[in-house]
Amino acid sequence: MEAAQVPSVPSLPSAFRARVEAALEAELVRRRAELEALDPRATALVDELRRLLAAGGKRLRPTFCHLGYRAVGGEDGEGIVRAAAALELLHTFALVHDDVMDEATERRGAATTHVRFAALLGSSARGRSAAILVGDLAAVLAESLLRRSGFPAPALEAAFQRFDAMRLAMAAGQYLDVAGAGSDLPGVEHVARLKTAAYTAEGPLAIGAALAGAPPELEDALRAYGRAVGEAFQLRDDLLDGSAPDGARERANALVDEALAALVGAPGDAEALAALRSLAEAIRPREG
Ligand code: IPE
Ligand code: MG
Repeated sequence: MEAAQVPSVPSLPSAFRARVEAALEAELVRRRAELEALDPRATALVDELRRLLAAGGKRLRPTFCHLGYRAVGGEDGEGIVRAAAALELLHTFALVHDDVMDEATERRGAATTHVRFAALLGSSARGRSAAILVGDLAAVLAESLLRRSGFPAPALEAAFQRFDAMRLAMAAGQYLDVAGAGSDLPGVEHVARLKTAAYTAEGPLAIGAALAGAPPELEDALRAYGRAVGEAFQLRDDLLDGSAPDGARERANALVDEALAALVGAPGDAEALAALRSLAEAIRPREG
């Protein structure tokens, strides 16, 4: 195992991010009213999602989705904000369930969802059950928000194909992780590709690109970039928490180089491609 010595990837403040926050808050407030009408006690589920989102997060997945869309020349508007926000809700689902699986006690500097509900409901088992439901709600809202993002049917259908493939990979990757499939570097990378890379970078980029009607060669370049950057990101996360296998830092640096190479000559919007290059550099763990 290799020790940490890797700074966190910086948060990504941007005008786009502020619009994603507003879309998330609007969606959750609306859903809260619906839950309240069913039974006021059920609002605890959505209040926990709002708390988690307010507690932090880099909004990497919305950013990748937006940059994929912009790289293809997609028109900025509320549609891409809602689609990008949907990916943050999917990430929230993954985090809450992951913390149950890992029995993690802290997330974003505060107690995890299952720990909070254990205190609220009086037992660890109930805390876990409630966290599973909070995660489920986030997954439902993610799907619903993407479906209602406002894109024309063919673009939405293309996005959903990629959304579905990405969710399948997440489930497979988490299972392989639980089943102990990754201990050496190739195994770790295989699991990381499925459980994290797919929904962190490649999937969001592909969804954004599909929403803008990407030509295949541009989508392929973005995906190749996303695969490499997503894997580098997971290895970096493993370095941060000290669970990385030997050679992870060098491999992550090489993956960042691979990501940059994938964009060379890509027929996309120059500004969006430049933003993707700086994002890859921000993920590079560098020397130890
Ligand atoms: C953390 O993801 C979990 C992984 C998939 C490695 P992030 O590092 O993107 O978490 P936030 O959203 O910024 O908190
Ligand atoms: Mg885990």
